[in-house]
This record gives sequence, structure tokens and C-alpha cells, in this order.
Amino acid sequence: MAYYTCSNCDYGSASLIGRCPSCNQWNTFVNKERFESKKGIEETKNIILTPLSKIKTQQKQKRKTGLFEFDRVVGGGVLPGEVILLTGEPGVGKSTLLLQSFQSFSTVYISGEESAEQVRDRAERLQINSHNFYFTNEGQMEGLIDAIKKLKVKPDVVIIDSIQTVYSNTVDGPPGSINQIKESANILIKFAKQEMVTVILIGHITKEGDIAGPKTLEHAVDCVINFEGEKISQYRILRTTKNRFGGVDEIGIFQMKKNGLEEVNNPLIFVQEEKEITVGKSIVGIIEGNRSLFFEIQALAVPSSLGIPRRIVKGVDYNKLLILLAVMKKHLSLPLDSYDIHINVIGGVKITSPLADLGIISSVYSSLKNIPIAKKTVFIGEVGLLGEIRKGFGEDKIIREAKRLSFKNIFSSVNIKDIHLLKNIIRLG
Ligand code: TYD
Ligand code: MG
Repeated sequence: MAYYTCSNCDYGSASLIGRCPSCNQWNTFVNKERFESKKGIEETKNIILTPLSKIKTQQKQKRKTGLFEFDRVVGGGVLPGEVILLTGEPGVGKSTLLLQSFQSFSTVYISGEESAEQVRDRAERLQINSHNFYFTNEGQMEGLIDAIKKLKVKPDVVIIDSIQTVYSNTVDGPPGSINQIKESANILIKFAKQEMVTVILIGHITKEGDIAGPKTLEHAVDCVINFEGEKISQYRILRTTKNRFGGVDEIGIFQMKKNGLEEVNNPLIFVQEEKEITVGKSIVGIIEGNRSLFFEIQALAVPSSLGIPRRIVKGVDYNKLLILLAVMKKHLSLPLDSYDIHINVIGGVKITSPLADLGIISSVYSSLKNIPIAKKTVFIGEVGLLGEIRKGFGEDKIIREAKRLSFKNIFSSVNIKDIHLLKNIIRLG
């Protein structure tokens, strides 16, 4: 029986179709024999199960890169044989980050994205010693692995910029297709483990989160880090979503400057100096990994002329805002249905911590009631569906940090138990 599969995404069909219903590519279907001859079937293997305690482990030492913020995110440095997937939108600064991080390593840098001149220009702009870097534009996996093995000195790290531009000669389909991404990654993972070389795969993802692309590799690699930030803002945040050799709760903060990425240590970096009090602005304190950070949240509530009022959110999860608004509507009896509500986190960053709940609610309340929140006020607290303020992880630590940074009014589960009490906190006079 004939069987056709899409060479881009592997979608299967009994008949030949012009346009793939799964990935919408044209003319990608190829004929495959569904039921191949029996001789291809593997014999039953004789498998021996070993007690885990008998398996020898190697003491592996993490090696620190040049960037403290990068090391913090990957769990203190990189290991030989580790495979890291670095994702992010085009232009966010992935190539810059890796070039800066691995400047003291002997590195093979494979860039299908840019020409040798462009990479050299960037290295010069970043004032990086490019003697440690070997470069090629060629993306054929088999050739690349051979070339790397032929180098006199084994490299410490191989950077693939990006996984969407490399390919294997054993698979059909153009670079960037799912089959090519998967197979190239398989070859690289095998190479990393055999040769004990750190491999870093860059994967572009679009705003919509291109599920079919590099995301399919997340299960296969050791560590997944994502570089995020708005191009219009200079702040960039590096986050881990998976790490087999470390925690996933640390973030790295950078500023994109003229001469590359600069590490940020100041917990108040996202909070502007308060010159005057303004309606709809609140400061929240949250914890990321081991450090406390403060963010400015702006809310704008304006009477709506629409049947269904608008909710426009930047920097906070949309569904999270809907829940918080529902809690406000129920427990503070506010006419939220007749207001359009806009929320923005300053600095073009995303906040995922539930400890920002109280601050988000306060900013909306302030805008809606047209009452500014006093200077030097910070909100730290998760809000439950019953309107209660819950003590979140790390709260005590953030409170200590807020005191050190001379915030005068610190509102958290310690001194505010319920959002009804917001009326007493945010009031005129
Ligand atoms: P890049 O690392 O090329 O992003 P990616 O690899 O994620 O696509 O960097 C992209 C942007 O960063 C580019 O628009 C220019 C800017 N940039 C600076 O502002 N300063 C610098 O020193 C460098 C190298 C880049
Ligand atoms: Mg790049």
C-alpha cells in the first residue's frame, strides 16, 4: 500500500496531496512504503539490566564562562558533553550572548545565519579575541563533524547558529524542516556525548512560539534557555525552562549596549526614580531564583465604548489578568465591565511570579479610582480566588530587600490579609 508523508513535518496520508494540512507547505509529500519488507525488522535483543549503583559516574566539573549572569542561569557553568538549546526571537541578541560568553573557550562557531565578515565584525565590535574561534558557513552535519574531528585541538564548545540552517545528507527536506532539525540535533547530541564537547544549539522562535521548530528538541537536550526582551527596550532576560544539571529558577539580566551585552545586578533596574506620584502605577517585589527584583506596573482603566471591554496586556499573562480582574469584580464590587483595561510592565520584560498579583490589582484599582499610590510603596503578594493575600515563596527575603532599598510602605501578607483592605491603603490624602 502506498503511503505518503510530508518531508517537512512528517504528516502522513494515504493519498498524495499538494498542500500539507499540518504545516501548509506545498509539494512536500513523498511516497513511502508503509509496510516495508520484514528483513528490515530488528531481531529481539538480549538485554541485561544493571543495578544503578554499579554504574560508574565521572566526576564532571562545571566550567564557568565569561559571563556571571549566563553561568547563573545554566547552573554555575557548562559541562563537557552538555547540550544546551538557546531559543529566542530573531534579533534579541542570541549570537551576541554566545560570542561574549564563550570568548575564553576554544570554540567552533557554525553560522548559517550570517557571513564570516558579519561574524568577524560583531566580534570586533564586542572586542573579542577571535583567535579562539573557528568558523564556517557550511551547514552539512556529516562534513562538519568530520571537520571538527580533524582539528588539532579538540574544541571546548560547538555553537550552531542556528539549528534551522543545518542539515544532514541522510534526510530529505530543506534545512529548517522538522525532519532536518530533529536529525541534525540527534547527530550533534551523539557527537557531544561521545566527544565530551559542549554543544549549543540556537533556535529561533517567533512571538507565536513556533511549536513545530526548535521546541521539538526540548526533550532531547540537557538544558533549555530562552532569551527574551523587546527589541525596542535594551533589557534582556535569560531564563531556564529545563536543566538536567542544575535548577531552573534563576534568571540572568542584561542590557544591550552599543558594545554588547552588559550584565545587570541592580534589583531596582526596572524601576524609575519616582519624581511625582502618578495614577495607575505600582511597584511589585518578586523573587527570581536567589534574588529579589522590583518592577513597575502601569495600568490604564478607561470607560469602554465596546460591548465587550478590551483587555490589553504586556509583560503579564493575559489569563492571569482576567482572573485578577474577576477577583476584583467580585470582592471589591467594581464596575470593571464598563472599562477597557491596559497593563504594561516597564522595561519590556515578562513577569511570571504570582507575587506580582497584589501590585497588578493595586495599579488597576489606582487607575480606576483615579487615586495615586504613595511614593516608596511596594506590593508583594499572591492573591487567591477568595480575595485573600497569600504568603508566597521568598516573601520574607523580598521584604528585607525592600527595607534595605528604603521602601517606606511595604504591603504583603504580613500586613494586608484581604484585598478589601486596598481601600484603606490606596486613598486620597
Ligand atoms: P544578535 O546577537 O545578532 O541577535 P540574534 O542572534 O538573536 O538574532 O543581535 C541583534 C541586535 O543587537 C542587533 O539588532 C543589533 C544589536 N546589537 C547591539 O545593540 N549592540 C551590540 O554590540 C551588538 C553586537 C548587537
Ligand atoms: Mg543571530
